[in-house]
Amino acid sequence: MKFFLDSAIVEEIEHAFTMWHFDGVTTNPRHVQVSGKPFLKVIKEIAALAAGTDRAISVEVNPHHDHHAAMVEEGLKLAAISPNFVIKLPATEAGFKAIPLLKEQGVRANLTLAFSAAQALQAMRMGATFVSPFIGWKESNGEETVSMIEEIVTIRDNYGFDTEVLVAAVRNARQIVDAAVAGADIVTAGFAVFQDAFDHPYTGVGLAKFQSFWDQTPYE
Ligand code: E4P
Repeated sequence: MKFFLDSAIVEEIEHAFTMWHFDGVTTNPRHVQVSGKPFLKVIKEIAALAAGTDRAISVEVNPHHDHHAAMVEEGLKLAAISPNFVIKLPATEAGFKAIPLLKEQGVRANLTLAFSAAQALQAMRMGATFVSPFIGWKESNGEETVSMIEEIVTIRDNYGFDTEVLVAAVRNARQIVDAAVAGADIVTAGFAVFQDAFDHPYTGVGLAKFQSFWDQTPYE
């Protein structure tokens, strides 16, 4: 299973690549705004961190675009900046239509803002490299999401689509594990979510105990 960092903070991404061996990055307009930098500047900085690797960096087109031609035009412009970029398109009619148009020109797409298996299926049919169901947003509204992930993975496997299922808006370690058990290919979450997921309070408690025993025992 691949882990992507959901962030546009360069220091976080560098840490995730070097210390955690992460496989990619997802950005969105909120992450870019939080970075405090202009859009093009920050995505170029992230691209530099992934240069020479096969790490995928999702960058989102202007969310105001409502025509596929505008999405394709901007997608091509962004893809020319870095071969690592995978263009994020919204799960709208125009977004779906832009997927094959970019693919014809060798540009990969990540269908974002997906909230149902039907939307994911259409993204796969259109040739998306990644499809991103947003589970955190759904669970905030009280919806169960594991069965949706299972359905998307089953549909993908039934028809042999080569789209990877990228479970997004992941908020905690339980959701990471649920996505892995359901057969998702990738999860993306924020820095703090992964930090918490890689930790457990008992690890610190246990380490302190072992240090105490260690200190009471001769080495030789
Ligand atoms: C995924 O690609 C999205 O960037 C992300 O998961 C959206 O959710 P959030 O910004 O609410 O965490």
